[in-house]
Amino acid sequence: MTTELGRSCKPYTEPMAPEETGFSAPRGTRDLLPPASSAWQKVIRYAQDSFSKAGYQPVETPAFEQTEVFARGVGATSEVVTKQMYTFTDQGGRSLTLRPEATASVVRAVLENNLHRGALPVKLAYFGWMYRQERPQKGRYRQFFQLGIEALGASAATVDAEVIEVADRFYKGLGLKTILKLNSIGHPGESCRGSYNDALVAYLREHEASLAEEDRARIATNPLRTFDSKESSTIAVMSEAPVITDHLCSDCAEHFVTIRSALDAVGIEYELDPRLVRGLDYYTRTAFEFVAGDLGAQNAVGGGGRYDGLAEVLGGPPVPGIGFALGLDRIMLALGDIALEPAVTAYVVALGDEAIREAFPLATRLRRAGIGCEFDLMGRQMKGQMKDAVRSGARFAVIIGEAELEAGEATVKDLATGEQERVALDRLEEWLGA
Ligand code: HAM
Repeated sequence: MTTELGRSCKPYTEPMAPEETGFSAPRGTRDLLPPASSAWQKVIRYAQDSFSKAGYQPVETPAFEQTEVFARGVGATSEVVTKQMYTFTDQGGRSLTLRPEATASVVRAVLENNLHRGALPVKLAYFGWMYRQERPQKGRYRQFFQLGIEALGASAATVDAEVIEVADRFYKGLGLKTILKLNSIGHPGESCRGSYNDALVAYLREHEASLAEEDRARIATNPLRTFDSKESSTIAVMSEAPVITDHLCSDCAEHFVTIRSALDAVGIEYELDPRLVRGLDYYTRTAFEFVAGDLGAQNAVGGGGRYDGLAEVLGGPPVPGIGFALGLDRIMLALGDIALEPAVTAYVVALGDEAIREAFPLATRLRRAGIGCEFDLMGRQMKGQMKDAVRSGARFAVIIGEAELEAGEATVKDLATGEQERVALDRLEEWLGA
């Protein structure tokens, strides 16, 4: 992702105090300004390219949905639904919610458009803003950007491995070091998570007095979620708790073994984490997360898993599914400075009235030939224009003055080496494009 000419840029600029207008971006949201915004676009383009290499095609769903899509889909016991949704009533009295995640939206869209009745699996990718009213901190925002894929209609373990491979290849391609944590949380049936739940509840009741208050309430609603607790007293209790992987039914256990051997076969390393349960209610079997060091508390740069029951929860037929979403805000923080290719190749420096009139047509000609080009828009002197040429990141200053125009030439200066030569104006495209 770096080039010799790449200018390094910070992933994000801290905002100034809103002295002049009194307005500032809402709490937990940020403006992405150049050049950091270009770095974002570059990573998004890279994600689009690397996801499409495995056949995932882009899908766009609305930024808001009927509240029930998330309330039912993401689940009544998840914090996302109970505490974090931006829900509002529109002028028609409908309850709508800004999407806190896209998996439920994508499954809704697949069912509504009957994609699950066509060629399977349905492989979709999305790149968009999500909204959760969480307490903002480094790496945690109220508007954040996810890069995601979903594969629907296939239950084979190879699909789980493929989905993980897509994320792994993306991180590696970016040069980002991550640790993949992998677990299976079984299926909800009595032979599997059902019987495990009984064992877990019995254990939690035994240690109820040592649990944080909020977690005590979870024993009845969603005991598995106690593994997600950030309370130190609960964490201590959970370190000795029975784990789901000792209670998987034979089908889920076999599924899990098959995924692991598929990952082993392609050299994707993972850490088994029997306490990884993930925060959304729809997961079945596979659950995984990618964490990056150095990010502090918010170190999960991506996560996903299987959700074989979600389509039915949303009123459709059984359609198995698996996917992931990677958090671009955290990825950018973890990457640190990013090198950017300059947007333009040339900058027309014009001296004298005639040359100034020529600058716009010349820049237009070069752009039409596919060569990125800027020119002075501020009426600067020569020195100011040369400075602006450097600011633009252009490799070449195309200098035109009276003498050059008379000769039908430009002086092309290589801003990296300082070398310059005269080039015929009608050969500029060829010269710069080479
Ligand atoms: P999630 O774990 O809630 O999963 O979010 C995925 C990633 O989004 C996280 O690992 C993190 O990088 C980023 N993220 C989440 N919340 C925030 C936030 N407040 N600020 C910044 N980044 C954040 C899902 O959303 C599932 N829909 C993933 C999935 C797809 N499972 C199956 N398919």
